Amino acid sequence: MTDFLSVKGKVVIITGAADGLGKAIAECYSENGMKVIISDVNVEKGMQTVVELQNQGGYVEFFAADVSKEEQVRELIDFAIITYGRLDGIVNNAGISAQNRPIHEFSLEEYEHLMSINLKGAFLGMKYGIETILKSKSPSGFVVNIASMAGIEGNSAMGTYVASKHGVVGLTKTAALDYAKYNITVNAICPGTFRTSIWGGASEEVIQQYASIFSPNGRLGDPKEVGYLALFLASDLARYISGAVIPIDAGSGVGKVTPVKWEHPEILE
Ligand SMILES: NC(=O)c1ccc[n+]([C@@H]2O[C@H](COP(=O)([O-])OP(=O)(O)OC[C@H]3O[C@@H](n4cnc5c(N)ncnc54)[C@H](O)[C@@H]3O)[C@@H](O)[C@H]2O)c1
Repeated sequence: MTDFLSVKGKVVIITGAADGLGKAIAECYSENGMKVIISDVNVEKGMQTVVELQNQGGYVEFFAADVSKEEQVRELIDFAIITYGRLDGIVNNAGISAQNRPIHEFSLEEYEHLMSINLKGAFLGMKYGIETILKSKSPSGFVVNIASMAGIEGNSAMGTYVASKHGVVGLTKTAALDYAKYNITVNAICPGTFRTSIWGGASEEVIQQYASIFSPNGRLGDPKEVGYLALFLASDLARYISGAVIPIDAGSGVGKVTPVKWEHPEILE
């Protein structure tokens, strides 16, 4: 097994990286010598993350951008070129959840707000990120879209979120085909249930209840587990992987867990 060091010096933008999965991806990238631009709407948390990673010796900068605003995404991409002189990859991670409700109880405004961040945000990141990579002398790069298991399966009472993440998966598959000949890989990571602030005010009890229902191994994912997968996809080890829609969910998406008593539990002793 070679060589995670192939990522060293690569320049990457991560959206929504002040916190949660984006922050964990930034940590994994920075620890492995990548030059990282953390972008977020939360300037205070974004700067905290930057300072943390810089104190550990990382090449990390912050740029405030709302992924739903075209001009701000364009400026974010320009910032990478101004700061590091190149762009090798973009991780479209910024996303929000919605309250669990059936579709008829969502307003159009709520639908459009969620879509503008989760789907339009990923579209804009891909559009301007890929365009910039294509303009480089010898184009080569990677896009990692953080979708969700909700990009693969339905989920009751999550219609708008599910639709947005299915959209991200659609963009991923299409872009993988369009840019393969330019040596740009485009993949989607589909997290199951991870411990981040996307859970908002949900109590520990509710979160654990979700984990026991949605995680066959009974625990929530650690954000760094998404970070390691994103690191692999950024590395030269993954140049033949594109258009992949990769669950990271302890197996929750492959079938139902049936509670049966084992006939030979003594083998676990
Ligand atoms: N945590 C999970 O269990 C889980 C599961 C599946 C998918 N995801 C996806 O992973 C991604 C990250 O989620 P998380 O759990 O880390 O959430 P989080 O709330 O912890 O972090 C999301 C970050 O995105 C930022 N953000 C929100 N709106 C933005 C905007 N318009 N522009 C730029 N930044 C913005 C927030 O300020 C925050 O720092 C999301 O796309 C989410 O849908 C998360």
